[in-house]
Amino acid sequence: MSDNQHEHTDTHLDGAGFETRAIHAGYRPDPTTGAVIPPIYATSTYAQDGVGGLRGGYEYSRSANPTRTALESTLAALEGAAHGFAFASGLAAEDTLIRALCRPGDHVVLPNDAYGGTFRLFDKVATNWGLAHSPAPVTDPDAVRAAIRPGETKIVWLETPTNPLLSIGDIEALAAVAHDAGALLVVDNTFASSYLQQPLALGADVVVHSTTKYAGGHSDVVGGALVTDDAELAEKIGYHQNAIGGVAGPFDAWLVLRGLKTLALRMERHSDNAERIADFLSGHPSVSQVIYPGLAEHPGHAVASRQMKRYGGMVSFRVRGGEEQALAICAATSVFTLGESLGGVESLIEHPGRMTHASVAGTDLEVPADLVRLSVGIESVEDLLADLDRALGVSGS
Ligand SMILES: Cc1ncc(COP(=O)(O)O)c(C=O)c1O
Repeated sequence: MSDNQHEHTDTHLDGAGFETRAIHAGYRPDPTTGAVIPPIYATSTYAQDGVGGLRGGYEYSRSANPTRTALESTLAALEGAAHGFAFASGLAAEDTLIRALCRPGDHVVLPNDAYGGTFRLFDKVATNWGLAHSPAPVTDPDAVRAAIRPGETKIVWLETPTNPLLSIGDIEALAAVAHDAGALLVVDNTFASSYLQQPLALGADVVVHSTTKYAGGHSDVVGGALVTDDAELAEKIGYHQNAIGGVAGPFDAWLVLRGLKTLALRMERHSDNAERIADFLSGHPSVSQVIYPGLAEHPGHAVASRQMKRYGGMVSFRVRGGEEQALAICAATSVFTLGESLGGVESLIEHPGRMTHASVAGTDLEVPADLVRLSVGIESVEDLLADLDRALGVSGS
């Protein structure tokens, strides 16, 4: 059985809008019961009609499971692609991709502002297997070109917006840079989500998601995804997904699938609330810099406006009172919960230097100590503004 045999073609959705695909792709009501929502197939194995007589191609749930198939088809449909793969976490997806595409002696260009766990995977794990990497600013295609090692660079890795500094990389320009050098462009689309940004249409070869974030959307599941429209890459990824085994379980797949149905609505509201908060922070005396791609003064604003539908729910800001004040603000909010992760319906606040990005301290990717990161949720925006106003007041200026 080929690993890609479980794609639903969904031809009835040809030309359908994003919201329609989010709700209908990947699954038609169950022919036996009419169940409108895919069941959670909590099964490890499948009865065979005689040796090799598989029903629908299912033989063992590491290789394929119908709940996961529904999710994988939806993930692909939302990125405008043919092939989706669901994993136990974003990092499991990344690890599988690295092993599918790279060999000892190869090289990867990484963003100089990447999620700390992605950097750690390359810097502390993949290097032990002979994979080299070097950082480059995603905002500067010439610097990325200069970081490429001809013949050795297999992947240019891009996060846009980056975590946590919300830098913007020009996907189209970086795809050209990567392809000129015979490398692939991989885009981590976690921060924007499939709704706000479509990297494959702009020339990327593979899209990565931590579905833990906006795709799941409710802070109740950890998961990851890879999506590609390239059949050859899909073959390699599918083979490694099964061979390595870091797959999404059926319960987790079901939660992400449920989350995706409301992704469009949530991203609109996240963006509405984040825009209001970015404006509020821009006028606050304690704040030295607001980093939000939707602000005209953000250096990546023009590129973001071209390649994103809106600017998303992540807002970072720096404070005049240094690390002490940044920590005090994180401790003083009550509607914003102090915690790692992002992309859920509830608002979160964190100090990247001490929390999500502690693993990059002392490296080229170190983040400023006076930085606070917000994952702006979908609560009433007045409550979020009042909470921040209070916390900034308590922390002093
Ligand atoms: C941009 C980005 N990519 C990848 C990951 C890793 O995903 P996971 O935590 O699901 O393994 C994260 C997690 O925070 C992230 O923010």
